[in-house]
Amino acid sequence: MDLSFLEPLVYLAWLLGAVAFVLGLIRMNSPATARNGNLLSAGGMLVAVVATAILLLARPENAATAAGEAPEGFNAVGWIVIVAGIALGGGLGLYTARTVKMTAMPQLVSLFNAVGGGAAALIAIDDYLKFSGAGTVPGLQVNVATVLDIVIGSITFTGSLIASGKLMGLRITPSRPVMVPGGQLVTMALAAITVVAAAYLWIGNVSLPVMLVILAVALIFGCTMTLPIGGADMPVVISLLNSFTGTAVAMAGFVLGNPVLIIAGALVGASGAILTKLMADAMNRSVINIMVGGFGGGEGTQGAATGAFGSVRELGLDDAAIQLAYASSVIVVPGYGLAVAQAQHAVRELAELLEARGVDVKYAIHPVAGRMPGHMNVLLAEANIPYPQLREMEDINPEFDRCDVALVIGANDVTNPAARRPGSPVSGMPILDVDHAKNVIVIKRSMGRGYAGIDNELYTNLRTGMLFADAKQGLTDLVAAVKAL
Ligand code: TAP
Repeated sequence: MDLSFLEPLVYLAWLLGAVAFVLGLIRMNSPATARNGNLLSAGGMLVAVVATAILLLARPENAATAAGEAPEGFNAVGWIVIVAGIALGGGLGLYTARTVKMTAMPQLVSLFNAVGGGAAALIAIDDYLKFSGAGTVPGLQVNVATVLDIVIGSITFTGSLIASGKLMGLRITPSRPVMVPGGQLVTMALAAITVVAAAYLWIGNVSLPVMLVILAVALIFGCTMTLPIGGADMPVVISLLNSFTGTAVAMAGFVLGNPVLIIAGALVGASGAILTKLMADAMNRSVINIMVGGFGGGEGTQGAATGAFGSVRELGLDDAAIQLAYASSVIVVPGYGLAVAQAQHAVRELAELLEARGVDVKYAIHPVAGRMPGHMNVLLAEANIPYPQLREMEDINPEFDRCDVALVIGANDVTNPAARRPGSPVSGMPILDVDHAKNVIVIKRSMGRGYAGIDNELYTNLRTGMLFADAKQGLTDLVAAVKAL
């Protein structure tokens, strides 16, 4: 049967898929439509995958199979591998995505990056093995894409595995920056080897050993690039590696001549790069500075922040309830501790109670509060807190001066005034100006440090009262205390 009419239909389906990716991304711009946008993009990918499967069935070489000839590069074993791969990978992905705790999301994203980058590199390696086996030099476009795919995919693979291990706190990948003497020289030497070897292949040579050198160097480069980074810089690195994954996938699209892979990869690459830049800006760092410098979490700098520590005023539950209930404006500052305690519903209950008493309640959202971009937005949305009450850092900071009470719940680094001075690990990171409020109430369990591992000078501010409690329990008790007034 002549199945050639299917090919244009498949291309049309790919186009539809690509349009769904773009529309989905646009919808992800607003928290209100993000879930819908995610579904739209996933639907686009489903259409593209089904269309590709149909194309594989309809291709002339498969017709040749039906005619009893050996298919070129595609057969029943290929189908079994594809179906088993989708079932295994899809099943594992679904299980981990459904069971992961939101606070462990960055390490999961990093693992997904490793898988994506590794898969893209494998496609290029397979292609190169075919070329070197046949002794043919691929055309320049495929040649360049193949080598770049191997390089970027392999760096992403090992870099993301290390990043994930660091966030999981594995012993072999300590979360602090691991600085090896001369490490930067090694990294530069590896980069130089890669450039020379890639150029050798691009000028028309086919050599399996040179390709293997490129592969090995890129795998090592991924480790040496990620190990010296740690602390609060990790999310930026993960976002950068996410961008690398997209770029590697786009390269795989060029290798295979598949436009859907090129478009999907380019979208992931570009959006990952934009997110990386936004996050670096939010910490007042340049991406280069983060990649080259390592996080400034040395012992000396920690000591400088710790030295400024004075005495702390502990606040009773009733005092806190009175301050909140009789305030005219309260700004809630959520942080990682709110997410750990799953206190989002309790904070909404308290806010509604205060609003019923005429208090103006807003939420101050720091771009890197929590452990992933948008962590606080997602958390508060889960408790149906109205979006208009969620205010970005630049927007809310001028309002702290006029605010009666800043209620800090499980947030630490993003409120640390030490960031305004040089010499501390968080120096230069823009912070929420919580210390400008007339009164500050901090709910956390102890004087424990935040992610950057330094003491917070906010806690010794004369206007600050510490309410030591688990965030959920503390908020539940506050609700009861306000009701009792
Ligand atoms: P952190 O500075 O990490 O501080 C969180 C605080 O929550 C801790 O000091 C802890 O103090 C408290 N806490 C923990 N469990 C609690 C509970 N059950 N109840 C009440 N409090 C609890 O958080 P942050 O202010 O949100 O800042 C985020 C940090 O993470 C930044 O340094 C940022 O750079 C980094 N980071 C961000 C991301 C992204 S993209 N958002 C990703 C990775 C890392 P106690 O132990 O005393 O309770």
